[in-house]
Amino acid sequence: MYNGTLVRLLDVHKVYRTGEMEVRAVRGVSLEIKRGEFVALMGASGSGKSTLMNILGCLDRPSSGQYFLDDADVSGLDRDQLAEVRNRKLGFVFQSFNLLSRTSARENAELPLIYSAHHLSHAQLREKADRVLESVGLAGREDHFPSQLSGGQQQRVAIARALINEPEILLADEPTGISTAGPASRSWPFSSNSTSTASPSSWSRTSRISPPTRSVT
Ligand SMILES: Nc1ncnc2c1ncn2[C@@H]1O[C@H](COP(=O)(O)OP(=O)(O)OP(=O)(O)O)[C@@H](O)[C@H]1O
Ligand SMILES: [Mg+2]
Repeated sequence: MYNGTLVRLLDVHKVYRTGEMEVRAVRGVSLEIKRGEFVALMGASGSGKSTLMNILGCLDRPSSGQYFLDDADVSGLDRDQLAEVRNRKLGFVFQSFNLLSRTSARENAELPLIYSAHHLSHAQLREKADRVLESVGLAGREDHFPSQLSGGQQQRVAIARALINEPEILLADEPTGISTAGPASRSWPFSSNSTSTASPSSWSRTSRISPPTRSVT
């Protein structure tokens, strides 16, 4: 039954086994996240935040427990099925941004669309990429390589790339640099009146997001 819950974790555990060593990285996390919520996972170094993010982002599977994404149990999906879910529903901003260095801001932003099922023309790709780059304050920088951009601007290219597929969930690992006040905060498109895009419904959902409403430790 639909009640606005997008993410539901039930007693999720993750155990890494390397030879003799067994690391219990995540121990019994249960968590619900509703559409439009902005949730921060907090904890000491090594407490399992990135591990949990990888599970939430369908990059990895729990060792035990269940993960319902949009009411579908994704805990048992295989690699190909997880990749498909990632493409449709998830956007990632990695701590190191993971931009392609010999590729312009525009082409970096276009990447997820190239792997998606939309089959857009070159002109459509370009238009979408330029629009999302503009929404993060990078109009005029579309042809710049990452090395020609500041750290904050590179981060905004990574955010643009994460947003271009209009994901249900945007995941950012350790985004402290993003949410600080100052010029960089302009880059966080959710808090502003982001202009509507091709899919106004998904955008009105995400644009409701404000600074973290909830912290999970
Ligand atoms: N692939 C892996 N194989 C074995 N152990 C791992 C692996 N990845 C993470 N770990 C271990 O799991 C635990 C949780 O790691 P994780 O990266 O999730 O922590 P974190 O909370 O993100 O820490 P940080 O704040 O330092 O980024 C750590 O003890 C780590 O050494
Ligand atoms: Mg981490």
